[in-house]
Amino acid sequence: MNVLAIESSCDETAAAVVVDGRTVRSSVVASQVELHAGHGGIVPELASRQHLRAIAPVVQQALADAGCTLDDIDAVTGTRGPGLAGSLLVGYNAAKAIAFGRELPFLGAHHLEGHIYANWLVEGPEPRFPALALVVSGGHTDLVFMREYGAYERLGGTRDDAAGEAFDKAGRLLGLPFPGGPHVAKAADDGGPSSLKLPRAWMHGTFDFSFSGLKTAVLHTVQAAKYDVPSIAWEFQEAVVDVLAGKTSRLARELGAAEVLIGGGVAANRRLREELQRRCPVPVRIPPAKYCTDNAAMIGAAASYRLALGQRSTLDEDIFTTNDWASV
Ligand code: KG4
Ligand code: ZN
Repeated sequence: MNVLAIESSCDETAAAVVVDGRTVRSSVVASQVELHAGHGGIVPELASRQHLRAIAPVVQQALADAGCTLDDIDAVTGTRGPGLAGSLLVGYNAAKAIAFGRELPFLGAHHLEGHIYANWLVEGPEPRFPALALVVSGGHTDLVFMREYGAYERLGGTRDDAAGEAFDKAGRLLGLPFPGGPHVAKAADDGGPSSLKLPRAWMHGTFDFSFSGLKTAVLHTVQAAKYDVPSIAWEFQEAVVDVLAGKTSRLARELGAAEVLIGGGVAANRRLREELQRRCPVPVRIPPAKYCTDNAAMIGAAASYRLALGQRSTLDEDIFTTNDWASV
């Protein structure tokens, strides 16, 4: 089954052709980073307008890269939410229009389920259940127990900033370009252990996270001007990774998970990948970084198994913007 997938929930316009939910024939991502860079964050109206310009060319490119035309496509999917409303509407309606025009099966996809399904794009056998998924992106930090296909239980998550948001805010405090995550990680490569110790909010007795205290500590450290950027970036990254890897490995052990899955932009972080693999008692699946940050291939993978089960969305379905797992 060749699925054409479209993703436009935030600031990337993306389209992909995915075969049987596991093989990527093409994956095109048009980034808006430069458009928003001067604003220090994503400006929703600029994002939706840019999606409008990019969507048709990106879909055409995905088909061309896959060496196919719409004649070869068996079903269409688009991200239904969560995300920015104006951004979602562009990709979701493009997906609907293609399905309508070609009389193809259509399914709305859940962005967070997509982040988990990046793990199905890793070569080799499929992930085994029960699995524990750590979803860490600009908008989410969730520990989700996946008992089987389609069964999600959120067992922990952030009480304030998402992990990616914390990286982005720390990046801004350190004077690094937007989005901070990859720049903080790069700066940390030039840093190392020092006398600087930043706080880890362990939230004992829960599998929840909190990153706002850490962000304030970065602010005070920058103001005190005693440490250089690489040293602060290094210690900040270690503090975030310590808590994420510590809680994920403990929960995986408690649940008797067969595997740990990771997804979302922060899952591209090398130190997080290393520490999860070092500390988890079970295998950790490591999707390629390009399928951790927003892309349409993961959306195609998530929709494929539902489409194969015969699930369909009607063409009058609305988007949603709530960050919950109940809507999966
Ligand atoms: O999944 P994603 O592309 O979009 C959302 O769904 O939010 O995640 C974007 C987030 C941003 O906060 C970005 O700074 C962060 O992922 N990120 C990273 C890295 N690459 C992207 N954070 C830490 N280390 C990285 N290498
Ligand atoms: Zn995302």
